[in-house]
Amino acid sequence: MSVVSVLTPVLVLVLCLVMGFLALRGRRSPAAAAKPWVDEDLRDDSEEAQLREGEDEEWVDVNEEKEVAHVPYSPQRHSHEQMLQRSLDFYELMNRRRSVRFISPEPVPLVVVQNVIRAAGTAPSGAHTEPWTFVVVSDPDVKHRIRLIVEEEEEVNYRQRMGDKWVSDLAPLRTNWIKEYLDVAPYLILVFKQTYGILADNKKRTHYYNEISVSIACGLLLAALQNAGLVTVTSTPLNCGPKLRLLLERPLNEKLLMLLPVGYAAEDATVPDLQRKPLPDIMVHI
Ligand SMILES: Cc1cc2nc3c(=O)[nH]c(=O)nc-3n(C[C@H](O)[C@H](O)[C@H](O)COP(=O)(O)O)c2cc1C
Repeated sequence: MSVVSVLTPVLVLVLCLVMGFLALRGRRSPAAAAKPWVDEDLRDDSEEAQLREGEDEEWVDVNEEKEVAHVPYSPQRHSHEQMLQRSLDFYELMNRRRSVRFISPEPVPLVVVQNVIRAAGTAPSGAHTEPWTFVVVSDPDVKHRIRLIVEEEEEVNYRQRMGDKWVSDLAPLRTNWIKEYLDVAPYLILVFKQTYGILADNKKRTHYYNEISVSIACGLLLAALQNAGLVTVTSTPLNCGPKLRLLLERPLNEKLLMLLPVGYAAEDATVPDLQRKPLPDIMVHI
């Protein structure tokens, strides 16, 4: 057996291993490949990731230097009949909530929106970090610039980034990338989650479970809007976060979570005739 015939298979094997290694390194993760729309605003914001990210930086304890007094608390109680009536009334109010994509330009008093955001700000939050910023936009020029950003990205989302299944799942809702309500609604509320806090001395503070906390606040916000007789459509425009953050001059620790156009429903508004799951399908009593 010659040296060449012994070395050739070995060289081929080594070459294959090196090429395989390089290919694996250069390949996007399966998760990223399946989600081509993932951008920097959707990166791993988990508590562990945040802690890893901040290892070299100066972080402070969430409640450092804060001695919190504990005070008596006596929430209002109701009779059984009252409880029954109130719980039913609230359910019926919330059951009338719909995502409305046709919003009237009729002005809405700012103080109502302020109260709605106050209500959202009563949400519980991880270690009471209150990791939310609600940016309220009524300036027509800024609303229009927001619309341009959203429509540009949404068109790419609908045409390229979304899979066929997603597009067909959305078909009954008749949504597309044209978002007239972004110009028309008297207010746009852009909800940002603060992935960490920045203190006056530039130290960082962990915002535990910030996404869950802000999502709960958004739920309260939707309920408060419904209670006030206003409408919105929960929207999560893909890939728009960084551009909208820059437009609205929000700091790096803030990531866009939701965009809510707010106003009265247009007189000729329509909604898809959707049914909600009945109680036995959503509740398990053990
Ligand atoms: C997290 C989330 C994201 C959503 N994103 C959008 C969106 O980008 N555009 C849109 O038109 N509706 C969006 N919706 C609204 C849903 O389509 C709507 O809630 C659903 O069809 C049920 O209708 P309803 O809200 O009237 O009960 C979103 C809802 C949620 C909860």
